[in-house]
Amino acid sequence: MTQHLTVVDHPLVQHKLTLMRKKETSTAGFRQLLREISHLIAYEVTRDLPLTDVSIDTPLTEMDAPVLKGKKLALISILRAGNGLLDGVLDLIPSARVGFVGLYRDEETLKPVQYYFKVPKELEDRRVIAVDPMLATGNSSAAAIDLLKEAGATDIRFLCLLAAPEGVARMKEAHPDVPIVTAALDKRLNEKGYIVPGLGDAGDRMFGTK
Ligand code: URA
Repeated sequence: MTQHLTVVDHPLVQHKLTLMRKKETSTAGFRQLLREISHLIAYEVTRDLPLTDVSIDTPLTEMDAPVLKGKKLALISILRAGNGLLDGVLDLIPSARVGFVGLYRDEETLKPVQYYFKVPKELEDRRVIAVDPMLATGNSSAAAIDLLKEAGATDIRFLCLLAAPEGVARMKEAHPDVPIVTAALDKRLNEKGYIVPGLGDAGDRMFGTK
């Protein structure tokens, strides 16, 4: 993947995203749409996984057929909203290993502070896909990627649903080697750090909290 930012402009993705943005969409509807859309964006983020041929027998004949090669995948959910994307990506890649990174923002320093970190072994040998629906300021995403690199990851992709230009710029500055795949690039952040037009608080919308 050579591009730093890929916007998945498939009509199904755009249609589902519009339904998710609507404020009247229910928690159950939001969750279902998130699961469906995550299949489609996961398809894009895994597009360049390497293949190798294995010899198999079909009912008719032998053939050399492609399977995923080498590096095992690790999916890393950035808590808590990352879990909504994680479920859908796991539908497509059920054998992937899974890790979790929990960060909160210190209200005084405004810096991300780690409260949970558990990732699969041998991260250096894996293709890592970090998932978080909203790339807003990019501060917590960049901090999560810092932690993954400290744990040995060298081959990382970042998968999100919505990105703000500020978040993309922050990630490009901090982690130019980490390609981002998103369903849309929105206009801006508001004064509270929400993506505009956005869809609100992704965690609250998927878990029905306030
Ligand atoms: N996180 C969210 O859930 N929504 C935003 O708009 C920004 C960050």
